[in-house]
Amino acid sequence: MKNATIHMEKDFRVAETDDRLFSSFLEHLGRAIYSGIYEPGHPRADGDGFRTDVIQLVRELNLSHVRYPGGNFLSGYDWKDGIGPKENRPRRLDLAWRTVESNRFGIDEFYDWSKKSGAQIMGAVNMGTGTPKEAGELVEYCNFRGGTYWSDLRKQYGHPEPMNIKLWCIGNEMDGEWQICHLDADDYGKKAVETAKIMRWVDDSIELVACGSASPLQRSYPEWDRKVMEHTYHDVDYISLHRYYENEGNDFDFLASFVDMDRFINTLSGTADYVKALKRGKKDLYFSFDEWNVWYQQKQERRDWMEAPDILEDRYSLLDALVVAGMGMTLLNHADRVKIACLAQLVNVIAPVFTEKGGRVLKQSIFYPFLYLSRYGRGTVLKPVAKVPVEESRYGETPLLYQTAVYRPEDGTVTVFCLNIDREEMELELELRSFGRLAMLEHLCLDGDLQARNTFDNPNAVLPKALPVVPGAFSECTVRLRKQSFHVLRFRLCSDDGHQ
Ligand code: AHR
Repeated sequence: MKNATIHMEKDFRVAETDDRLFSSFLEHLGRAIYSGIYEPGHPRADGDGFRTDVIQLVRELNLSHVRYPGGNFLSGYDWKDGIGPKENRPRRLDLAWRTVESNRFGIDEFYDWSKKSGAQIMGAVNMGTGTPKEAGELVEYCNFRGGTYWSDLRKQYGHPEPMNIKLWCIGNEMDGEWQICHLDADDYGKKAVETAKIMRWVDDSIELVACGSASPLQRSYPEWDRKVMEHTYHDVDYISLHRYYENEGNDFDFLASFVDMDRFINTLSGTADYVKALKRGKKDLYFSFDEWNVWYQQKQERRDWMEAPDILEDRYSLLDALVVAGMGMTLLNHADRVKIACLAQLVNVIAPVFTEKGGRVLKQSIFYPFLYLSRYGRGTVLKPVAKVPVEESRYGETPLLYQTAVYRPEDGTVTVFCLNIDREEMELELELRSFGRLAMLEHLCLDGDLQARNTFDNPNAVLPKALPVVPGAFSECTVRLRKQSFHVLRFRLCSDDGHQ
């Protein structure tokens, strides 16, 4: 058995987490919207046709924002097709996913759904076939108080008050040659600036995200990011990052994905700092990691020209959930730079929540790491000093134990998330002296058969277990971490007299 030590100092901090780190994404893709969140006639649908069984699980995740409506879909989408009486809405070809879009669901329906799900909207404007003018008109439709063509139309279509959508993506993955009307970095940068100007003239309270690289595997990375940052430095607030991982045959390499993701963020942090210096600027460019997950892209299937086909419906294993845990922890460990992050996606399409059309709903394995990061990951991220064993993976030297610590002075709790990617159990010594004495509240663990998956017949094949806590009050403790496992270790500071 190997040993590790984590020494935590309560004043040695990375940053406060931004609530928007706990966000997700819904695209008009496959069954994400239709028979995902929206299914009129389903036994659990409410008067608006929203599935209440899905809303219940989404609320459990306590999302800050949901990004909408895409994704690749965005670059061919005319938002005006999705407003007004449903019987008048056009059926269109969606060239991004080679499907048929009925437009029965649009921005008004999504606004109503967001209110019920407790999340805010992260909007997005089309930078493929779309123009800066149409982007401004969408902001006017959503956010302008009234007395103009588009804002009065919103009132007529059921929303008298402005929707107040404060956060907007200027396009999606415009570096990708698969994108409808893909642009090079200079053309995109210039178009993004002109779009940003119009959007802010309509509503100067909004925040904007420009497209960074779709992945560090792109040939144009990281030059794309540098050029886009140089064009947009004065006009946007965030640069987007996207990254998906899949198991290419070596479980250990797959588990080490967090090493690569960490490097990706570090590289672009350096790029953002360079651009800030170049511009003689004062503000930092922050990141919106608005697509992240495990996605088996090599196995991707196609169903041409169907309406809401069952595509990209990855069924996740425990192993996938461990990788998602490592990715989510990486985002928290970069809370000083990453302010927004969207697990991509939310329902059916590469998602933690999975539905049967007309039937049941299921929590996939990846639901759990995201749930616990969302539930206990909000607070001050600490920068522990860790002595952990290492091994070589495809990404170079890789720690076998990865950790994230979050301190919440307001309720006196400390949560340590640990991912043991070793093939054997590990003994972890936690040094917590700067907190005085603590009591352990909970020890949750996700481990077992790496290939286990939740199914409708066996919905709890992957389920976190509560393990015995270390008894008493202490300022250091030892915990055993099972092989290939994710842990949530929760502590509460004891009051001065040493009692809980
Ligand atoms: O989330 C699935 C797809 O992945 C999105 O549409 C696109 O932005 C990314 O390539």
